[in-house]
Parts: sequence; structure tokens; C-alpha cells
Amino acid sequence: MSAFIGLQCHLCHTPFPAQALYVCDRCLGPLEPVYDYDAIRLTRELIASRPKNLWRYRELLPITGEPRTGFNSGFTPLVRCDRLAERLGLRELYIKDDSVNHPTLSYKDRVVSVAATRALELGFKVLACASTGNLANSVAAHAARLGVECVVFIPDNLEAGKLLGSAIFNPTILAIAGNYDDVNRLCTQVADRHAWGFVNINLRSYYAEGAKTYGFEIVEQLGWRYPDHVVSPVAGGTLLPRIVRGFRELRQVGLVDGDLPRVHAAQAAGCAPVINALEAGLEHPEPVRPDTIAKSIAIGNPADGYQVIQTIRETGGTGAAVSDAQIVDAIQLLAETEGIFTEPAGGTTLGATIELVKRGVIGRDESVVVCVTGNGYKTGEVLQGRLREPVRLSRAFKEFESWFETREAIA
Ligand SMILES: Cc1ncc(COP(=O)(O)O)c(C=O)c1O
Ligand SMILES: [Zn+2]
Repeated sequence: MSAFIGLQCHLCHTPFPAQALYVCDRCLGPLEPVYDYDAIRLTRELIASRPKNLWRYRELLPITGEPRTGFNSGFTPLVRCDRLAERLGLRELYIKDDSVNHPTLSYKDRVVSVAATRALELGFKVLACASTGNLANSVAAHAARLGVECVVFIPDNLEAGKLLGSAIFNPTILAIAGNYDDVNRLCTQVADRHAWGFVNINLRSYYAEGAKTYGFEIVEQLGWRYPDHVVSPVAGGTLLPRIVRGFRELRQVGLVDGDLPRVHAAQAAGCAPVINALEAGLEHPEPVRPDTIAKSIAIGNPADGYQVIQTIRETGGTGAAVSDAQIVDAIQLLAETEGIFTEPAGGTTLGATIELVKRGVIGRDESVVVCVTGNGYKTGEVLQGRLREPVRLSRAFKEFESWFETREAIA
């Protein structure tokens, strides 16, 4: 049912077999799946008739057999946010809300559903990853569901909720003394020597394709049209280029037409290699040493940095970096105006959107989709001291009454 043919180099277009390969041995470019688009007979009605999960676009995903996991992943809400829009001075604003993605509350459940299915097709017995937290949560959960052994590698300074979110599924957790870039370097060495399926290293060609479904859903949920702008967080650089690849593919198979949206990158000022490169006119980001509360996106040396920059330029987009204080303000603004609780990655994306509106990059009458990719319940630490304390009362009615008399006005 899939139109998946094989892999090819993104840069020199050399074809490769559909194995656990991720880098071109001629030019070191990343490998990506190729599809026979002419063979795809997808209609809006056919897609609408399928279950509300990411496999509704399975013709455009790189598996050869049946999906094995992710039957409740994807198809997250696209929420129209009029109260937030008003605060920003916009007319048409949406949050694509992967903070409620199933089962581990981040966009990573998309990429892991695809990579884990492909890992089983390729015969891997162990699922592994290098992670800033959310990916480890997702790999551990999907591995548990599949009954497959799991090893996750993380930096040793993650938030308590991120660690808990992996540990509950009982994988082997290797907490490495170092930052994500150190963890990733170690995992590349491990993947060279051991036949483990590292979802974001040797299975990266398949993993990254899962992120296209975020883009597919935006178009479908807008009623088969593109928005004018999309603002996406960038860490390793998987998501942003794949949203655009998804947008292009839907046009290629005849499901949507029109001009691509302008796609903009959001990063924390304490880890902004892509924004720096955009501002300096570079093609490749220069690695940085991360220092930000936005730990899930604290990647100083993004694997797909080149593709992110290329994609942004092709769509006429740009980017913005925001301080940790702006990130927390944005988390609170989103929660208070729309009832959506995101983690610092989402605060970064909304904070960057606010910047882009201020700069006039996003106009008042244009439609915007803001990518919220992770859940705030995992990172409560960042709100320490920022929230109203509960009013503490005894059980006595008269105590309630005296509080009621002196309270600040409640509407
Ligand atoms: C919540 C969240 N959002 C966004 C990202 C960024 O992803 P990417 O590596 O695709 O740029 C990550 C992970 O790295 C994440 O955990
Ligand atoms: Zn190549």
C-alpha cells in the first residue's frame, strides 16, 4: 500500500537500498526515502474515511508492511486561538497541539511510530535513541507496547518529569555526564559497533519521515489549504524541513494547491545556532554550547541544520531567538488565554511568533500556525515561584466567609 521505493541522498541523489542507512558514502549527505508519487491514488475522502492517527497518510510513509505501533499517535488538535490572537494583534491564529499527542505527550510519538515499525521490519531486536528527554519517553513507551528491549541515552541533567516519563516504562537508561551533543556523539559510536536500532541515528531516514504527518494534518485540518505562516521549533532540525516536505508532497499528489507557507524557526537565545546562521547568511550552522531552560531543544550542533536553513530560505521564512524569560512568559500566556499547557519548547515557539509579529514579518491579516510540540506537565520546574499560591483554609464555613468578604474581586 505504501509507494515507498528506497532511499536516496538528499544532496547528490545517489540511490541506496531501504536498509538502516542514513548517510551517503559519496558525499556524506543525509539519505531520505523516495516514493513513486504517480502510483499514489489518495483522495481527501479516502483519507477522511480512515482512523484518526498518523497512518491515515501511510502511502507517504516509509514502511513496506503493516504499521506496528502508533495507532493512537498523531491527528492531534489544530486549535483556533482567538483570545491569544487578539493579544498578539492577529486575526487567524492556530496552535497545532502535539502537547497532547499519544502516548507520551510530544511530537516525538510521530517519528517513533514510523521508526519503530521500520525497525521491526528490518529485524532490529533493541530500540535505542539519543535524546533530550521527549524522544526517550516515546521510544521507551512504544518499545514497552511492542515488547521490545529498549536502551535510551540522555544527558544527566534532565528535568524530573522527563526522567520519570522514561523510567516508568522500565527501559535501560544511560544518563551521560555531558550535554546532548556529547550524548549524540557517543550514540553514533555505539550504533557503529552494535546492531541496535537507534531511531534518530541509523534509522533516521525513516524516523524523520514521521514528522511529515504534522504538516499533513495542518493542511487537512485547515480544510485542505495552506496557512500563510508556520512557526516551528528547531533542535536537531527534523521537524521543520519535514513539515515543508509534507506540504510539498500533498501538492504533488494533488490534494492541495497554492503557494507554500513561509516557515520560520524558533530557538532559545541560549541555543540558537540556526538563528545565528540565518542572520549571518551562512548555509551551515556553527555549533554552540547550549545554556537555556529549554532543555528539550538544547542541541548545539543540529544534525539537519543545513536542511533547516535551506528550507526556510526556500519558503521566504526567517526565524527568531527568545530569552528564557520570554519563554516562560509565553508558556503562561498560552495557558491563561487558551488553556494549553506547554513546555519550554512551545514557549519558545510562541515567544518567537510574538517577535515575528512585532517585526512585521507576520501581518495582522495573515493566518499563522504555531507548532506546540511538548507538554508542560513534564517541566514544572521552570514555573517555580511564578504561579499563584492556593488560598489555604480550614474546613470551617466561617473561614470561607471571611475570605469571601476580603477576596480580590472574582467575576
Ligand atoms: C518538545 C520538542 N519540540 C521540538 C523538538 C525539536 O525537534 P527537532 O529535533 O525535530 O528540531 C524537540 C526535540 O528535540 C522536542 O522535544
Ligand atoms: Zn550524496
